[in-house]
Amino acid sequence: MEDALNGLKLAVDSALESAKTDMEVEAIEIKYLGRKGELTAMLKNLTNVPAADRPVYGAMANGIKRQMETAISAKRRILSVVKMANLADTERVDVTEPGERPPEGHLHVTTQAINELTTIFEKIGFTRTRYPEVDWDWYAFEALNMPADHPARDEWETFFMDAPGSKKGRMVLTPHTSNGQIHELEKGDLPIRMINIAKCYRRQIDATHIPMFHQIEGLYVDRNVSITHLRGVLDYFAKAFFGPDRVTRLRPFHFRFTEPSFEIDISCGVCGGTGINTERQKCRVCKRGWVELGGAGMVHPNVFKACNVDPKKWSGLAFGWGVERTFMMKSGLQIDDIRTLYKNDLRFLKQF
Ligand code: DAH
Repeated sequence: MEDALNGLKLAVDSALESAKTDMEVEAIEIKYLGRKGELTAMLKNLTNVPAADRPVYGAMANGIKRQMETAISAKRRILSVVKMANLADTERVDVTEPGERPPEGHLHVTTQAINELTTIFEKIGFTRTRYPEVDWDWYAFEALNMPADHPARDEWETFFMDAPGSKKGRMVLTPHTSNGQIHELEKGDLPIRMINIAKCYRRQIDATHIPMFHQIEGLYVDRNVSITHLRGVLDYFAKAFFGPDRVTRLRPFHFRFTEPSFEIDISCGVCGGTGINTERQKCRVCKRGWVELGGAGMVHPNVFKACNVDPKKWSGLAFGWGVERTFMMKSGLQIDDIRTLYKNDLRFLKQF
């Protein structure tokens, strides 16, 4: 009995010696001192010992039990001290270390361009307005002097809604932002200085067209508005958006809702409007010194009439162009496919 008890004590000591975690210590405690533990079993066996010997062996077994308990709690203390020491080492915080910035997103390039366009025009008194992007034919075409069946409509590649028509014609997804001109004129609250930046939809998809894109439209109506004002507004815009050394050029063109009408060109930012690059060759970006921005002109009298505005009293200028296009022109990037902007490839978008 005595040998067996001492044997158990030695076994516990050596097991504790090699234990490295609280869990291992706990397992040892259960193995020897638990309800079904080895020492507990021996204490139960005391009933088999002759009655005269029991007190001696009982005292001996209890002594061993206490020694084991002491050894176990000593080991627990050691482990906890070691753990705390390691903790200080592994979880040390260096308060002088520079912080780590959480990942931060930014607005999409189109939204950035919209915000910039808005700010630039606000500075010269244009207010950004909003109109439906699903609109009646009247606003998209008819009142803009583009009667039904007019061939000019074909260029707009319109999406028609599968919805009942009305006095104002069929419903369409706005193919351009010029519908804003009619909505604004119809209010009859003159003079007008507005910009309408909105989504446009056309049935086109290739490297330079996407079915959903954005345009900015400008409308300025007052007494005696002239082409000089148009030039002034466009030149101001070109310098504010693209840079102080850029100038604009108006090229005669045809739009149904303006007369006269122009296409707006901007001097090329790469060759400075000369068409010749630094290697004395044709500029690869523009070839002729100019890049195309969009359309503009003086509001057509028929547009005024459709909105009950007297063209003899009022005159106006209007302009419009693509937002994605302006972004691509400004970035100076030779993005050869407009669809790149909407692929949501972060490697591209993060650059701006
Ligand atoms: N709405 C035309 C388009 O989508 C652009 C345009 C041309 C707008 C001339 C205008 C303008 O306001 O005067 O191509």
